Amino acid sequence: MKYRSEIIGVGSYVPPQVFTNFDIEKMMDTTNDWIVQRTGIEERRWVDTETTTSDLALIASEKAIANAGLDKSQIDMIIFATLSPDHDFPGTGCFLQAKLNLPEISVLDIRQQCTGFIYGLSIADKFIQSGTHKNILVVGAEVHSKGLDRTPNGRNVAVLFGDGAGAVVVSQRELTDNKKNSRIMTTHLYADGSYAKELWIPAPGNALGAERINKNILDEGLHYPQMNGKTVFVHATKKMAECLLHSCKEAGVELNDIDVFLFHQANLRINSKVAEMLSIPESKVFNTIQKFGNTTAATIPLGMDDAIKAGVLKKGMLVASAAFGSGFTWASAVWRQ
Ligand code: ACO
Repeated sequence: MKYRSEIIGVGSYVPPQVFTNFDIEKMMDTTNDWIVQRTGIEERRWVDTETTTSDLALIASEKAIANAGLDKSQIDMIIFATLSPDHDFPGTGCFLQAKLNLPEISVLDIRQQCTGFIYGLSIADKFIQSGTHKNILVVGAEVHSKGLDRTPNGRNVAVLFGDGAGAVVVSQRELTDNKKNSRIMTTHLYADGSYAKELWIPAPGNALGAERINKNILDEGLHYPQMNGKTVFVHATKKMAECLLHSCKEAGVELNDIDVFLFHQANLRINSKVAEMLSIPESKVFNTIQKFGNTTAATIPLGMDDAIKAGVLKKGMLVASAAFGSGFTWASAVWRQ
């Protein structure tokens, strides 16, 4: 192997409007206690009516590029992960590319939901190692709030999700020392589509009959996320633990060697359970769900940026990451920051 992929810049952005659980209590039949006990979430950010996913992504991307010390003209590819696009098509990566004013560089939108960021990181790593690209912007961004049922009918899902964006710049460097170089060491990607309908948004969709969307579909609420929470919980804990072990083994590191665990932020209880299953000290798991809720594809880069700002994650540290979500998809990665 000649090249390594190093994360050289990190940035994130959340919209300013904070919605605490007490604000949510006024909208739907729920309580702060229920939300905190079941999920760990205390508050989340929701955008105003004008703001889009690519707007959040733009700010996070500009911060990541500045943090990398690059001029934006040095970015040669954008990989964009979201499940809440600006429009059905084209992919939101194209809207971001236009806002960044980077015409002609390649843009790849991926739809692996909560697992999207690790899928994106893995794809970036492969392009970098192949020698074709030098500086890839990997973005996870979501505006969930506009797609939630914020009436009492939607309370089982709407309380969970927040809006936000995170981005990293992955750059090509010469590989000189397998153990010491900052680099993405392993990524592992998985999916099992037989569980697709356990966590999904059915509409708009060709599978719904003659029209992708119509009044009946809207009346049935099929354009809102549907989730079998218990099934998600059981599979998420099992698969995240499994793939984390696999990535550590492939990277040639012990779980004990890992300095910081950056897990997807679906639910504090999921992350506590994974830590318990693998005897990982909770102090090594960096969680942000308390203040941002579940921002799906954004949770891991957002957490990375927060962990750096908090002084928890420093250059040269070993990081392990795992995510699980709709698809079902799940993935893990180990890197030296
Ligand atoms: N407020 C108050 N009560 C509620 C709410 C709410 N927001 N939502 C549901 N309830 C009620 C239900 O109606 C039910 O009442 P009942 O017993 O009278 O019928 C009761 O609470 C229990 O409902 P369950 O759905 O069984 O709640 P559960 O204990 O499973 O907790 C939760 C729900 C937190 C979603 C849980 O299933 C879970 O942790 N799932 C993991 C999946 C997850 O976190 N997904 C996040 C997004 S997906 C992802 O990123 C992977």
